[in-house]
Amino acid sequence: MNTLKTRVLEALRKVDDPDLKKDLVSLGMIDQLYIDGATISFTIILTTPACPLQKMIKQACIQAIRQEVIDDFEIVITFTSTVTSGRSRSSSILPGVKNIIAVASGKGGVGKSTIATHLALALSNHGAYVGLLDADIFGPSIPTMWGCETTKPTVVKRDGKNHIIPINRHNVKLLSIGFLSNMQEAIVWRGPMASAAFKQLLQDADWGALDYLLIDLPPGTSDIHLTLVQTVSITGAVVVTTPQKIALIDAIKAIAMFKKEQIKVPILGLIENMSYFLTEKEDASNPYYIFGKDGGKLLAENESIPFLGQIPLLSMICQQGDLGTMPYKPIMPFNKIAAMLAQQVAIQNAIYQ
Ligand SMILES: Nc1ncnc2c1ncn2[C@@H]1O[C@H](COP(=O)(O)OP(=O)(O)O)[C@@H](O)[C@H]1O
Ligand SMILES: [Mg+2]
Repeated sequence: MNTLKTRVLEALRKVDDPDLKKDLVSLGMIDQLYIDGATISFTIILTTPACPLQKMIKQACIQAIRQEVIDDFEIVITFTSTVTSGRSRSSSILPGVKNIIAVASGKGGVGKSTIATHLALALSNHGAYVGLLDADIFGPSIPTMWGCETTKPTVVKRDGKNHIIPINRHNVKLLSIGFLSNMQEAIVWRGPMASAAFKQLLQDADWGALDYLLIDLPPGTSDIHLTLVQTVSITGAVVVTTPQKIALIDAIKAIAMFKKEQIKVPILGLIENMSYFLTEKEDASNPYYIFGKDGGKLLAENESIPFLGQIPLLSMICQQGDLGTMPYKPIMPFNKIAAMLAQQVAIQNAIYQ
């Protein structure tokens, strides 16, 4: 039986993870391999929840085993996932957070907070532990979008230190710089003050163990961006843009900032929002390209960064944001984009292994 097990493992050594470009056995992705009578069963530990390549990997495994092991065994493959981390484990700041993802844009109003919100929901729905930190000092909209404008996060004292407890909504841990100010009052955050407040939310909050912490950044470039990269090691950034030239010009600046030597944050991908208009009936056969077609997609190609997808203009998306009634189940196409983002995170983490 042992030799059979060895042969199965040999077969699986011939199957590469298409993203990580190494075989499943070397990557430690094969677990609980049993041979029981005429059944071969094992678990594949994926690096992302809802891996878009699951079907393809399964087929490749079955084919490889059938080629190596002549007998007609039944093959039962189960999938599970453990999100990887490229962040240094010795990091004293947020050691329990596997991946920190900045959601950025050149311009305001392109849908950064909306996308950060829906991605957080989608990742959580895929089974990941997710946090969302709203760091937009100019216009924190996460409290409104999540219907918790009047909520104040609690603070507990532990080991002589104050810890801010994030709010839990739909299994996502939330904090916003907006919680620190009265929503009715316009606070004029000065550079150092804003940075100090942001740092507090990042490091003094009880984020616990998270697979992904998304950070909704202010638009453009600001002190907050610098504070973020100087305070914690971050996995990468997602850039959001709308398709028209006016937005793209600023998106190019945001991309250039992340590529700069002092910042050097990997860009996990670009998301194009408000790509086309769909009527209330969501008639996908009749898209109307209000801001021009494929501007973000072409920008991603030109910049050689992954393109994560396009999101239509839907009145439902706006209404949900205004009313603070985010759906518990994420709507398309956020599901697919979230899976692609998780895939890029896994690829990024594999580079640093
Ligand atoms: N795809 C979309 N369809 C409809 N409305 C959208 C879409 N994306 C964003 N919005 C709306 O556009 C406005 C700006 O979005 P927001 O996420 O606040 O942008 P940002 O955070 O970049 O400033 C909000 O009212 C939001 O509800
Ligand atoms: Mg915003």
